[in-house]
Amino acid sequence: MSKTAEIKFEDKSYSLPIVEGTENEQGIDIAKLRAESGLITLDPGFKNTGSTKSAITFLDGEKGILRYRGYSIEELAEKSTFLEVSYLLIYGELPTAEQLADFQSQIKVHTLVHEDIKKILEGFPSNAHPMGVLSSLVTALTAFYPESLDPNRSSDKVNMSIIRILAKMPTFAAWAYKNEVGHPVNYPDNSLDYCSNFLKMMFALPAEKYEVDPVISSALDKLLILHADHEQNCSTSTVRVVGSSQASLYASISAGINALWGPLHGGANSAVINMLEGIKKDGGDTKKWMAKAKDKDDPFRLMGFGHRVYKNFDPRAKIIKKAADDVLDKLGVNDPILDIAKGLEKEALEDQYFVDRKLYPNVDFYSGIIYRALGIPVDMFTVMFALGRLPGWIAQWKEMRENNEPIGRPRQIYVGENLRPYVGMEKR
Ligand code: ACO
Repeated sequence: MSKTAEIKFEDKSYSLPIVEGTENEQGIDIAKLRAESGLITLDPGFKNTGSTKSAITFLDGEKGILRYRGYSIEELAEKSTFLEVSYLLIYGELPTAEQLADFQSQIKVHTLVHEDIKKILEGFPSNAHPMGVLSSLVTALTAFYPESLDPNRSSDKVNMSIIRILAKMPTFAAWAYKNEVGHPVNYPDNSLDYCSNFLKMMFALPAEKYEVDPVISSALDKLLILHADHEQNCSTSTVRVVGSSQASLYASISAGINALWGPLHGGANSAVINMLEGIKKDGGDTKKWMAKAKDKDDPFRLMGFGHRVYKNFDPRAKIIKKAADDVLDKLGVNDPILDIAKGLEKEALEDQYFVDRKLYPNVDFYSGIIYRALGIPVDMFTVMFALGRLPGWIAQWKEMRENNEPIGRPRQIYVGENLRPYVGMEKR
């Protein structure tokens, strides 16, 4: 017999169905509650609200589990590649060798962007933040591919939009950086793999030979895998909500990039480095900064700590911490802020304030240190996150469209003034 939950309100009782997931997650389906009782549910920040049923990513914040399409993040990070994981997320299964080769070659065919995009880029001042440039260029794609505007076109056409954005995002990301430093842009090199091509577009300078370091390229590939999806987080929910109005894939992804930008979400990776640099400059007294983080009158928070859903540990942070050690070791980089980060982590894990609130390092606590060791500038960290999260956004947008989900439109409890007469200017 299917399970139900009872809600008692005033003198009536309402029976609500329980929805069960494949990992035995259970939720109360309140879709009919308002029609039957006049009640809505209130949950600011959607802390306890499921917005959809999804078959893409499973995470268990209490146990520190993260899986894409049933595969553990640990195994994927160790054995897979970013494009393979992208295929898995978007199409639901790991690709065969033939499917992967075809996917890779389709992406390579579309890495180049229309020359007029350069004119848009040139319109930005050189101090423009690369996240703003990236989201603008992604929106601009709608002008170059107007057929992408209709998300209800045949699946072949939608798939072409998917391939195009996967192919062009590294070009946009590298060009956003080139604009920031005032250098000429580099064109894609399709003889290279996804990450190596991106690195070459980022770092190659005119009249200088640039060889991609395989250590850097493979570390970047791993970082992108770790960021590839994270179920209904702030930016992904944004992508789904924007897409639910039947806005195009590019418009939805552009909105996701903007949602990712803030320091409480993807912007945390830059904020962590700025924080660690600040602590170093201030003499490296981690105890002083720990006290600030705990002081309710001080707005300072320990960036890279805490997570809405992970209340035990963030499995991505574990993998990244080890990768940070490996990469810095292989590249021979000795970064004093890695020691400050480890010191802060140690103190926080033993501190009652952090223990009580279940605050642990999140994916961004160590990712910035690796990005820095790879030569990626701080302003670009969140762009790197966007590059990694792209297949997740695409997969979630595609799932939402294929399930024909209704437009996202929450309700509210109104707490403003009741009806009152208009007061003329002379009486105010
Ligand atoms: N430093 C100090 N105290 C913290 C921190 C932190 N980093 N994070 C949470 N707290 C405290 C809060 O002050 C609050 O304390 P209280 O109960 O005494 O009032 C308690 O822990 C719960 O925090 P909330 O803000 O209610 O938790 P929420 O789930 O809303 O926020 C968030 C999660 C935004 C990630 C938060 O932990 C934070 O701001 N962290 C720092 C920014 C960060 O690293 N963001 C990246 C997240 S990962 C990602 O997006 C990829």
